[in-house]
Amino acid sequence: MDRLARSECPAFTARRARRAEASGASQDPIVWAEARGANVVDADGNVFVDLTSGFGVQAVGHAHPRVVEAVRRQAGRLLHGLGDLHPSDVKIALLDRLAELAPWDEARVVLSLNGADAVETALKTAVLATGRSGVLAFEGGYHGLAHGPLAACGYAPGFRRPFAAQLNPHVRFAAWHEAELGDALAAVDAAWGDDVGAVLVEPLQGRGGIRPAPPGFLAALAERCRARGALLVVDEILTGLGRCGARWLSVAQGAEPDLLCAGKALGGGLPVSACLGRADVMAAWGAPDGEAIHTGTFYGHPLGAAAALAALDVLEEEALAARAQELGERFAGALHEATGRPVTGAGLMLGVRYEGSTLPLVARLLARGYLTLPAGAGATTLQLAPPLTIDEALLDGFVATLAELGDGAG
Ligand SMILES: Cc1ncc(COP(=O)(O)O)c(C=O)c1O
Repeated sequence: MDRLARSECPAFTARRARRAEASGASQDPIVWAEARGANVVDADGNVFVDLTSGFGVQAVGHAHPRVVEAVRRQAGRLLHGLGDLHPSDVKIALLDRLAELAPWDEARVVLSLNGADAVETALKTAVLATGRSGVLAFEGGYHGLAHGPLAACGYAPGFRRPFAAQLNPHVRFAAWHEAELGDALAAVDAAWGDDVGAVLVEPLQGRGGIRPAPPGFLAALAERCRARGALLVVDEILTGLGRCGARWLSVAQGAEPDLLCAGKALGGGLPVSACLGRADVMAAWGAPDGEAIHTGTFYGHPLGAAAALAALDVLEEEALAARAQELGERFAGALHEATGRPVTGAGLMLGVRYEGSTLPLVARLLARGYLTLPAGAGATTLQLAPPLTIDEALLDGFVATLAELGDGAG
């Protein structure tokens, strides 16, 4: 940790110190050295159960053999291509595959690296397609921290404040209501304005505290977008590709997005993200002046594309969406029984709600061998998002430990 503090941006070290002070427990991280399946081994050889999937990335489990083999094979063939100028064969295969997985008859796809990139692509697409710069986003929403998505980051105003002068000033925030559909829609209507070209929404808020929307909300939002000439941009970077029990949670909720962002699990552990769009919407990128006005050196990287194709195969062949749904229901029930606390979420993206900060609990769980994350304002939610391949016995062990620790939140 001393070495880290000498070289890493001080913001991260400062966070640890602040958290230690707030929680009264050491917030020193472990140092990851190896990981397989749902287990992480630290630099000292301690083994942990990963209930974070590495920020939701390792849906197929760490180092899935199919993903590792695909990366190895690709590394022996082609490490880097020429992006959008001379594409690699494997990039074309991934684009084809994603267009097939998209929820429209005809789709077009832009590949990128981080979730934030995919959201930037979607926001730019919405400007081109609607001619409007306004974005309606939600309090508690999180879409990444590049300038485009940061402007729409409702998770905490403190993330935006230092950079406010550089951010899109046409972002409106609507309150997020979990319980009543009427309240949720009234908040949308109150925040709406004529300049809104994109409504950016997570079908289930993740970092914001595993906060669902009322049933019917997303479908009603899609209708409003259609009626008012805006595009519905659904951020499925965390919820998508099976984590919440369906390929796309928004579609399972009865909504048809215009643009859909995927990331995290998509690359099977490599940085791959994508903005998927209905073909007629993506046509707005057409008629360029001879240059691609939106690209990145590493977008569609061959290694990432190979890993993504393998991860998508695993998700499908091992029917992991259905497994997430089934296992998630049992896990949620057991968590509620063990803690007496409200449990929110879908599939294997669950939150246990506490009244105080969960930081001390997260530290105690780490000491017992479980990697978990705090979520939500005030860190009052214990976020649980294990690999979709996790052995159920590991979840049982976690529930027993949580029960044993008692009401460990601050
Ligand atoms: C819903 C959602 N959108 C976007 C992002 C940003 O992704 P990235 O950190 O890869 O830029 C995240 C990351 O946590 C996320 O949870």
